[in-house]
Amino acid sequence: MKTAISINPAYREGVANELSKILADEYVRYTKTKNAHWNIEGRDFYDKHKFFESQFGELDAIVDSVAERIRTLGYYVDAMLKAFLSVTQFTEQKREKNNSAAYIKELLADHETLIKSLKGNILVFGNEYHDLGTSDFVTALVETHEKMAWFLRSHLM
Ligand SMILES: [Fe+2]
Repeated sequence: MKTAISINPAYREGVANELSKILADEYVRYTKTKNAHWNIEGRDFYDKHKFFESQFGELDAIVDSVAERIRTLGYYVDAMLKAFLSVTQFTEQKREKNNSAAYIKELLADHETLIKSLKGNILVFGNEYHDLGTSDFVTALVETHEKMAWFLRSHLM
C-alpha cells in the first residue's frame, strides 16, 4: 500500500538512504560497545563491564528506532552486516590492551564523530528533503548521543 505521509517520494527515498547510513553507524557503535563489555580487563572490570552494558542497551534501542523509521517511510531495511560495513564511517580494530581508558576514549571519539554527522543530517532532512518528522527524530538521537558522550567523558576526568 502507498505510503502517503506528505513527503515527496524522491525526498522520502533520499531520507531513507541517509537513514541507512545512520543505521550502519549505530550498529557498528553497538558492536564496538559490546566488544568493550565482553573484553574489558583491569581493576575496574565489573564497574566498566556494567557501564558498557547500559550503553549498549541504549544503542540497541537506537538501532531499532532508526530501522523502524526507515520502515515508517515505506522502505525496507538492508539489515545485513556486509551492508552496514560497506557504508559506515566507523572502523573496527583489534586492540592489544583491553583496559577501560582505551575503550572509553575510542567510544567517546566515535560518539563525537556521530554527533557531528547527525547534526548535519538534521539540517539536510529539514531543509533539503522537507521531512521535519525525521529531522526531529534525529534531533532526539543527537541528544541521546550527547548524554552518552558525557557519561563516557566523565570517566576520563
Ligand atoms: Fe553481558
